[in-house]
Formats: sequence, C-alpha cells, structure tokens
Amino acid sequence: MNILVLNGSPRPKGKTAEMCAVFREAAQAKGHHVTVIDVCRKNIKGCLACEYCHGKGEGVCIQKDDMQEICALLKETEMLVLASPIYYHNMTGQLKCVIDRFYSVLYPKAPESLKKAAMFLSSGDPDMETGAKFSYDGDFLDYLKLEGMGIFTNHDPDVMEKIREMAESL
Ligand SMILES: Cc1cc2nc3c(=O)[nH]c(=O)nc-3n(C[C@H](O)[C@H](O)[C@H](O)COP(=O)(O)O)c2cc1C
Repeated sequence: MNILVLNGSPRPKGKTAEMCAVFREAAQAKGHHVTVIDVCRKNIKGCLACEYCHGKGEGVCIQKDDMQEICALLKETEMLVLASPIYYHNMTGQLKCVIDRFYSVLYPKAPESLKKAAMFLSSGDPDMETGAKFSYDGDFLDYLKLEGMGIFTNHDPDVMEKIREMAESL
C-alpha cells in the first residue's frame, strides 16, 4: 500500500516526528511504501478560493509551490496519515494550509485509490484533540468516506506500541 504521512510539526525531534518514525518503520517492515513529508520544511501557501482548480485548471491548482509534490503523491495514495502537534486546539497552521489545498485534489471526491486515514496528535495538555478530531471525522471519515485507523495521542502511555500494532495490521 502507498501511504502518505503529513507531519505538521516544525520540531524534528518532537513527539509527532517520533510517532511518524515508529509508524514508518513498522509499515515498511510489512512491505508498505511510506512517504513522510515534513510540511513545515515546505513552501505551501493557503488556498486562494479562486476556483481555478474546479474550472479551467481541471483539478490543478493555480499556485505553483511545493503543494504540487503532495498533489502528485495524493493521486496514488491509499492511506493518508495526518500528524500534528496541537496549536491553539487544532492542527498546526502549516498542516492546515496543506489540508485547505486538498481542495483541488480531494474535493468533491477523493481519488479512487484513497481508502484509509489515521491521525497522530501531540499536545502539552491531555484531552486537547477535539478540534483536530472534528476536522478528521468530518472531512476525512464522513465526507470522503475513508476508513479510520485511529487517532493516536502522546498522552496515551502505550501510544508507540499502538501505532506499531496499527501499522502491522494494515
Ligand atoms: C503555538 C503553540 C500553540 C500551542 N497550543 C497548545 C494548545 O492549545 N494545547 C496544548 O495542549 N498544547 C499546545 N501547545 C503545545 C504543543 O502542542 C506541545 O508542545 C506538543 O507536544 C508539541 O509536539 P511536537 O513535539 O511533536 O512538535 C502549543 C505549542 C505552540 C508552539
């Protein structure tokens, strides 16, 4: 399976990065192809709401930045993992820009290949995932009808083991 992990943390040694690394190692060991993109290292602007992608652009965004790389990967992705620290009750702004730019590729419909999703979250305080969960449940599970493989948070003492088990179950 082709798996795309979008890491929204700017901290290369943070919890989110660790969750992504554990997942990648376990999924690769099962033969999956895993691409982890550190979105904070990319130049990705917010959506302009110009609707070019749904008109003349025929699914291609008018903005030429690093989102093109992610859009190309998304067309072949079978599982999408959204990984982020919680900033002000939600995913980081850098990852939110990427999600908004999904508009050209995942709206109104995801590519046929995309079937599964998961979310990794890291926060300073426990029980802070409501905002991010709302987006994940509403936009990815309900709207795009992806199969949810779970939301994993750093406040679960067994989180790394659970991520490994989820990757091994794919
Ligand atoms: C701008 C900013 C906003 C934050 N907002 C929250 C918040 O609303 N709730 C919370 O529990 N932690 C908040 N934090 C703390 C981070 O979520 C926490 O340090 C997290 O574990 C960082 O994950 P990382 O190490 O993977 O980058 C915030 C941190 C920053 C820098």
